[in-house]
Amino acid sequence: MSLAVVGAVVLVICAMAYALNAGRGVEGIVEDSRAFQARKDRYRWRRDDSRNDPQLMEELKQWKEKNSSFDYEKLGSGLIPTSMINKALDGMKPFVKSDTWFTEFELHNKPSMILSESQDSYIIGNLATYDSRQYPQWYDSKFEPGVNTPEGQAFGHTLVISKTRIFNVVDPEATADDCRRLKEMKHHFICFWETEHGSPKLIRRTQSAFDDQNAKLERKQSTLEIFQKLLPTLKKDFDSLAEDFKQLEPKDFQFAFHAWPDNSVGHLHMHVFPKKEDLRRFSAKRHDLKTIPLEAILQVEEEDKRRATEETER
Ligand SMILES: *[C@@H]1O[C@H](CO)[C@@H](O)[C@H](O)[C@H]1NC(C)=O
Repeated sequence: MSLAVVGAVVLVICAMAYALNAGRGVEGIVEDSRAFQARKDRYRWRRDDSRNDPQLMEELKQWKEKNSSFDYEKLGSGLIPTSMINKALDGMKPFVKSDTWFTEFELHNKPSMILSESQDSYIIGNLATYDSRQYPQWYDSKFEPGVNTPEGQAFGHTLVISKTRIFNVVDPEATADDCRRLKEMKHHFICFWETEHGSPKLIRRTQSAFDDQNAKLERKQSTLEIFQKLLPTLKKDFDSLAEDFKQLEPKDFQFAFHAWPDNSVGHLHMHVFPKKEDLRRFSAKRHDLKTIPLEAILQVEEEDKRRATEETER
């Protein structure tokens, strides 16, 4: 199976997941305290709903045991699409029913898709490009602008995934040991960013996704002229964004999660992307409401732990 087909499959899944969240209005991701509190509330509500759902917890257990005979209802949309079962990417290991796009990532993806590896996590490139203008309706009628196009949330949007089988941030394992794993994911990215080859590597990956999407647009003969008119603008913007992106410091990044069932891929992954408005100007804002910063999760976990301790001491 070629990467192009996989890309198309991913697009469809993303488009479906994104369509569910359409029409909700946009509110920036939050340095202000009211918006931050709303993300904390959302996390607490999603987490408690999930952990109090016996069917979901049973599915989670089966998933961790890699049970491919089990009928997953609740986890279903986070798993590999049925069209990909028994198929492989580029001669890698074929997927089975209980896989997700990111589970045991190294067995299913070329090494070049892994930008960095630590003991607990991988930093992987995003297959979707950051620029909504690369998903025009003249190319594909299902790309309704601002509703179901699959672009990332900013230039350089990337993902940190756990190496072990953890399903989303609502999985109790995700926040075990005072959120050790979530903190490690952020730490991993910052270490990567601060090495000399970190930002060039991420820019190259961003460029590949950008180029791949342009190549697709270019292959459609009937709209070639429209595309050729657009391309210089896209490239000029890419170069200027890449320049700004290089200058970023760790504090300029958003580290965030989409809590089940707001997520698309089931496997635990942290979104990392620049906070700066400028670096988000061609990218998706409509996921902002469901985008929960790591800090919000850490605060909720700490508050709830403190409350539980106080209650047992009483
Ligand atoms: C896997 O799922 C099937 C179907 O629900 C079930 O019969 C089987 O016992 C499960 N296997 C394990 C190891 O739990």
